[in-house]
Amino acid sequence: MQIFIDTADLDEIREAYSWGIVDGVTTNPSLIKKAVDRRPGLSMRDYIRDICRSVEGPVSLEVKGVSTEQMVQEAEMLYERFNPVNGNVVVKVPVSTAMEDGQPLFEGIRAIKTLEGRGIPTNATLVMTAEQALMAAKAGATYASPFLGRVDDYLRTKLDIAFDKSDYYDPLCARHLEEQTWEEEASGAELYDRLMRSDISDNGIYSGVDLVDSIVTIYDAYGFDTQVIAASVRNARQAREVAEMGVDIATLPFHVIEDMLTHPKTLEGMQLFTRDVVPEYEELFE
Ligand code: G3P
Repeated sequence: MQIFIDTADLDEIREAYSWGIVDGVTTNPSLIKKAVDRRPGLSMRDYIRDICRSVEGPVSLEVKGVSTEQMVQEAEMLYERFNPVNGNVVVKVPVSTAMEDGQPLFEGIRAIKTLEGRGIPTNATLVMTAEQALMAAKAGATYASPFLGRVDDYLRTKLDIAFDKSDYYDPLCARHLEEQTWEEEASGAELYDRLMRSDISDNGIYSGVDLVDSIVTIYDAYGFDTQVIAASVRNARQAREVAEMGVDIATLPFHVIEDMLTHPKTLEGMQLFTRDVVPEYEELFE
């Protein structure tokens, strides 16, 4: 599994890249906003150039328009301006730019198709369903980014479960809770009806990790070249679970990458080994 870092903070990118396990970077307008808030007055063009220079691997930069025409124009501008820096620009395009019912749905898909046809690699972003991921692959996207944490947020909110952003969401717990309400005798038809109405899933997807699994299965079934980037990952357990299913890439915030290397017994083990270094062993290194 490749690991991208999901941040626009240059210090985090440089630090994580120096660890030797980061293969690329993903940004979005909200991550850029955070970086700008921390560094008022920065030159965005120079800053993006520095990000592109700081890694040998794809750097996703997102368009801001909503129509196919705007997005294609912005993507070409981003690609022409920043790809020459290190040859690693990928343009992030929302899989759909509609913000309300009734707005056009396929602007992003058309932009992806056009850009890929012109040789500009795209990353279909804001993917919340496997059906959207299928559309992105059919349009020829180089990458598709399911936002697994946001799907968990959606499910937990729907189920009225209180949560912190980084909490692991376990869909099995939701199923157990649901089963507890089925104690009385009921016919198969009644149980089926209740299950269909109980709504602990998002149209049959039980968690963000489940969504990634569904997309990996569909892409494998048809041999799509589109690579899956598990995005909106909030904790190390989710990173492990998408790795278990063989996802191509996980894009991870800095703190999640750090969490992947921590365990209390590793800390304790280091304390014990350090304490137990005897002078005879010390001598070996002199
Ligand atoms: O890669 C997408 C990511 O930046 C969104 O993360 O945690 O805001 O849902 P989050």
